[in-house]
Amino acid sequence: MAFMKKYLLPILVLFLAYYYSTNEEFRPEMLQGKKVIVTGASKGIGREMAYHLSTMGAHVVLTARSKESLQKVVSRCLELGAASAHYIAGTMEDMTFAKQFVAEAGKLMGGLDMLILNHITNTSLTLFRDDILSVRKTMEVNFFSYVVLSVAALPMLKQSNGSIVVISSLAGKMVHPLIAPYSASKFALDGFFSTIRKEYFLSNINVSITLCVLGLIDTDAAMEAVSGIINIQASPKEECALEIIKGAALRKEEVYYDNSRWTPILLGNPGRKIMEFFTVKSYNLEKFATN
Ligand SMILES: NC(=O)c1ccc[n+]([C@@H]2O[C@H](COP(=O)([O-])OP(=O)(O)OC[C@H]3O[C@@H](n4cnc5c(N)ncnc54)[C@H](OP(=O)(O)O)[C@@H]3O)[C@@H](O)[C@H]2O)c1
Ligand SMILES: *[C@@H]1O[C@H](CO)[C@@H](O)[C@H](O)[C@H]1NC(C)=O
Ligand SMILES: *[C@@H]1O[C@H](CO)[C@@H](O)[C@H](O)[C@H]1NC(C)=O
Ligand SMILES: *[C@@H]1O[C@H](CO)[C@@H](O)[C@H](O)[C@H]1NC(C)=O
Repeated sequence: MAFMKKYLLPILVLFLAYYYSTNEEFRPEMLQGKKVIVTGASKGIGREMAYHLSTMGAHVVLTARSKESLQKVVSRCLELGAASAHYIAGTMEDMTFAKQFVAEAGKLMGGLDMLILNHITNTSLTLFRDDILSVRKTMEVNFFSYVVLSVAALPMLKQSNGSIVVISSLAGKMVHPLIAPYSASKFALDGFFSTIRKEYFLSNINVSITLCVLGLIDTDAAMEAVSGIINIQASPKEECALEIIKGAALRKEEVYYDNSRWTPILLGNPGRKIMEFFTVKSYNLEKFATN
């Protein structure tokens, strides 16, 4: 008990203060001339991120499956002031496409500063019974392709001291009935990308990883999926997209965007962060000396 009083509380307070404060302010110029990939950019939050980035004067390469929609988004990006805007259409079910997409995007922009991983396979709210194939497909598209894309992008991101931005969900931090495969894929993103963030830190790789934990957002897909099933207020996709870009530019570890201001405090899990901090202390750090 004495130990608890003496050390644990101050440590808790320090961690909370550290995790919920930033000293730097966001400025739109931070994105000016930056080379950014956005996946799942044909509609929804991805499209809104592409528009914000364009207004801020970034170079963008967008992807999704629908060529027609991407074409329209790219035209709008150019009108909004993108330094350049291109699209490459394809499906993230295909890992060869995922890998080649990053290489081509890198060539189009002459490098890469930010990789925004946002696409998901279509999801409907249903009780899980035996649809094993949907679990596999969801893990492939929502999780495995993110790993492939980030591996392909890492050499360019190392050169630019760049950023990986992973779009997750409240369902990647807590349980919601009716979306077991989706939730599994979002929890997997936290496990994988939070681990490699720690590894990058320990091996002096200066690539930031921002995990974005979103509540219900008013995209067509989400509104259709929850209609008649979940009754909560959705937040606006335009503001959501902006908050993601701000957090990414400030190289935050996590961004919470939800209609309740209690969410980051309740889901931020300082206990986990403290345990992670002390667990790393017990590692032989020579293992990380070379990368
Ligand atoms: N909206 C919400 O309430 C909410 C809440 C929490 C988290 N999120 C997260 O926010 C992100 C965006 O959600 P959203 O609501 O904006 O989704 P959305 O409107 O359904 O957009 C999904 C995007 O992914 C693309 N896509 C779908 N299947 C694909 C495939 N097989 N290969 C490549 N691209 C594919 C879609 O374009 P094509 O169909 O043209 O391929 C589209 O551009 C997701 O990571 C989601 O989990 C959303
Ligand atoms: C996703 O879309 C495909 C094709 O439109 C459909 O066959 C499939 O049932 C949908 N999956 C889910 C989980 O909604
Ligand atoms: C990346 O950061 C390192 C310090 O970590 C710095 O020496 C280097 O100049 C930076 N490179 C770029 C391209 O910003
Ligand atoms: C990492 O890169 C960023 C962006 O270039 C830079 O601001 C930061 O100082 C670098 N951090 C370290 C530890 O070198």
